[in-house]
Amino acid sequence: MLKDKDRIFTNLYGHRDKSLKGAMSRGLWDNTRGIIDKGRDWIIQEMKDSGLRGRGGAGFPTGLKWSFMPKDDRPHYLVVNADESEPGTCKDREILRNDPHHLIEGCLIAGCAMGAHTAYIYVRGEFIREREALQAAIDECYDAGLLGKGNKCGWDMDIIVHHGAGAYICGEETALLESLEGKKGQPRLKPPFPANMGLYGLPTTVNNVESIAVAPTILRRGASWFSSFGRPNNVGTKLFMVSGHVERPCVVEESMGITFRELIEKHCGGIRGGWDNLLAVIPGGASCPVVKAEDMIDVQLDFDGLREVKSSFGTGGAIVMDKSTDIIKAIARLSAFFKHESCGQCTPCREGTGWMWRVMERMVTGNAQKREIDMLFEVTKQVEGHTICALGDAAAWPIQGLIRNFRPEIEKRIDQYTANATSHGAVMEAAE
Ligand SMILES: Cc1cc2nc3c(=O)[nH]c(=O)nc-3n(C[C@H](O)[C@H](O)[C@H](O)COP(=O)(O)O)c2cc1C
Repeated sequence: MLKDKDRIFTNLYGHRDKSLKGAMSRGLWDNTRGIIDKGRDWIIQEMKDSGLRGRGGAGFPTGLKWSFMPKDDRPHYLVVNADESEPGTCKDREILRNDPHHLIEGCLIAGCAMGAHTAYIYVRGEFIREREALQAAIDECYDAGLLGKGNKCGWDMDIIVHHGAGAYICGEETALLESLEGKKGQPRLKPPFPANMGLYGLPTTVNNVESIAVAPTILRRGASWFSSFGRPNNVGTKLFMVSGHVERPCVVEESMGITFRELIEKHCGGIRGGWDNLLAVIPGGASCPVVKAEDMIDVQLDFDGLREVKSSFGTGGAIVMDKSTDIIKAIARLSAFFKHESCGQCTPCREGTGWMWRVMERMVTGNAQKREIDMLFEVTKQVEGHTICALGDAAAWPIQGLIRNFRPEIEKRIDQYTANATSHGAVMEAAE
């Protein structure tokens, strides 16, 4: 278990003073100028050496991403993705409302590393209190001379908070940029990539809140400190989220690679009704394929660990389901979510998400043919990889996981429905 001294987030639960004074007393904003003075190349190299992989879901190496920003004299932008709308994901919210100075100091340092003097933080529409807490913390930094032109840290930086309007698709980085520009939030075709042509057609890097918020501590404590947690290619500390059928759902910072069993026993008080009562887990946010209990219990929670059980690490948000769950209905509910959130730009996603949802609704009651299970799987394959952004994949994967792991349940439901319909038909005939 991670020791308290190794935790980056020291006020995740809001029990301490979250003001600038409180944050400073916990080591934030300590000699930020010293880090800035080491220069852009040093910061990027240290971030690369730390092995940090983006915490927004795709796991792209953060230092490498920063290094893609061109060194020319056009205005450059840092955009922080605080849209956090994926069911099961609720970590950035804790940073925004309880520990925002990690993010603000991170913006200044990341801005220096990529030549950006302006950062936009795009906050999920529903996060009203979070936006207020973040804005209050930013205002404090301006008042203290830590932000703005000619600030004490030695890198001019303005931070602008932008409030979204409640659309999951605006978490996709290019839809987010469109939305920031005041347009409809629809993903852009890539290339060109944002590093060359992002916000307002200018060099831009989009990073998740947690990716930026951990940077100051990594640079203060050193790349090798951060990479000493976890295993190669999967290093660092990470905010894990656990929701669903555990005794105590929580958000907690732990070492990458902790096993699911350890995470649940140490931080969540166990599975409701004990380990034998565990049915399945969606391990990394709603878009990740569901994993059966027996495959999940001893899995290492990191990018490679979840790939070994044919799922993905995503954002690190585990949705735990015990045996009281109607797993077909649970996945159908996610299908409804993705159908609702599809922006409609790509035909396979616009049509496919509705199609998959309607078939899933019939699978819930059992009013389907068994051959339709294969057909449904085939449709998920037609959606996956055939859209501009990954929302199509996100809609396809939970269904693929369900069919791979719970096919007998679906077949049983169809048999029951057919048997009921047949006996009902016989009764009706007899009555006539
Ligand atoms: C439909 C969709 C929604 C997304 N929502 C979020 C989100 O809310 N927050 C986030 O950080 N990344 C989200 N992403 C991933 C972003 O596109 C992007 O990869 C991420 O912000 C990059 O940050 P990172 O490199 O720090 O991980 C989403 C992707 C898709 C396809």
